[in-house]
Amino acid sequence: MTAARLVARCIRGLEEVVAAEILALDLGAVTRVEHRAVHFRSAGPRPWATGPSTADDVFVVAARGPDIGPAKAGLARLTDLAAQADLTAPMRMRERRAGPSTGVEVSASFLGRRAFNRYDAEDAVGEVLARRLGTAYCSRRDGRTPPPTHSGWRLTLDGVHATLMLRISARPLHRRPYKRRSIPGTLHPPVAAAMARLADIRPGHTVLDPCCGAGTLLIEAAHHQPQARLHGLDLSPDAVAAARANAAGLPIAVTHGDAARLPFPAGGVDRILCNPPWGARVRPGGLLAASPDRWWRELRRVLAPDGMAVLLLPAPADIAAGIGHGLVPARVQRIRVAGAQPFLACFRAPDRSGGRRPPETAPSRRAAPPAPPGCGTP
Ligand SMILES: C[S@@+](CC[C@H](N)C(=O)[O-])C[C@H]1O[C@@H](n2cnc3c(N)ncnc32)[C@H](O)[C@@H]1O
Repeated sequence: MTAARLVARCIRGLEEVVAAEILALDLGAVTRVEHRAVHFRSAGPRPWATGPSTADDVFVVAARGPDIGPAKAGLARLTDLAAQADLTAPMRMRERRAGPSTGVEVSASFLGRRAFNRYDAEDAVGEVLARRLGTAYCSRRDGRTPPPTHSGWRLTLDGVHATLMLRISARPLHRRPYKRRSIPGTLHPPVAAAMARLADIRPGHTVLDPCCGAGTLLIEAAHHQPQARLHGLDLSPDAVAAARANAAGLPIAVTHGDAARLPFPAGGVDRILCNPPWGARVRPGGLLAASPDRWWRELRRVLAPDGMAVLLLPAPADIAAGIGHGLVPARVQRIRVAGAQPFLACFRAPDRSGGRRPPETAPSRRAAPPAPPGCGTP
């Protein structure tokens, strides 16, 4: 059996977390980690039911050749790439997960200036693929949205390679079926999944999101560690209703409340997951409107001595605020999501060990080494 060449696409900054999840779930051998892509080889036909939850999507590589360069004449080489691509194994892999397809759709992207547009590149391969598969091709050129039952092909030109890939699922992985209700500022599920994994949540842990919005972080945490005790709090009745609807069937308690006054005893929370309302889209309300500092004070108060907070924070000043409130940064990683570049930050509880704890890692904007299971516990 030849190993399938797979590519997990992700948002910028999560590459190492995706690679670690692929290895932890035993989905295959990671062969290359690059900008927004993790390449891995899966030998077996074993279809995995879910995951990797931290990736936006997973594709199987059908053909790879040199980048065609900037000239429009190079499009003929894309047609050749599609003509020579292995379609049988990728289509079989997709069918096992997504069932039969009704046609072909292509989404192309490239780095650098080109004398052609994305639709020229998409049509150059899409028409050939459809002809070879004996099916219809739906071009996006006229603003049409292809039916979800079409096989989803992806073409990337990165300056070195032209890569033609097929999505192995019917829908992009980042579109979660549970997310039936949304709120302004709701989190991209793969980012929430990455935060849940970095938090190293253990069975029996009490996990809190004090500004839970539509519940994304807690739902991803429940999927990752079903034996945790998960609690969400939000000031907005709409957010509470959205979180309860999205979390239906999961053991997540969601209540209405103000994060400036958390209904937990001191040291009563093992893990905090949160993207607080500090962004441009969502402003702090209630008691936090006048005094956002109270969020940090409460967070520090409820965090257990060996506790960990994994937070998505918009600016360096927010990291400084956490440190200023006595929390200890274990990892800081800048990511790029929805046009912003927030920081994914893991903070440990203040050191109350009398100096017996090992030295902390200094905050860094560089990626952590590959394959850490989480931010680590003291
Ligand atoms: C960025 S959103 C959180 C999004 C959430 N992680 C999700 O995936 O849907 C911030 C949330 O903070 C809530 N919020 C604002 N002020 C609050 C306060 N004082 N106490 C609790 N929640 C508050 C807002 O209602 C909003 O739902």
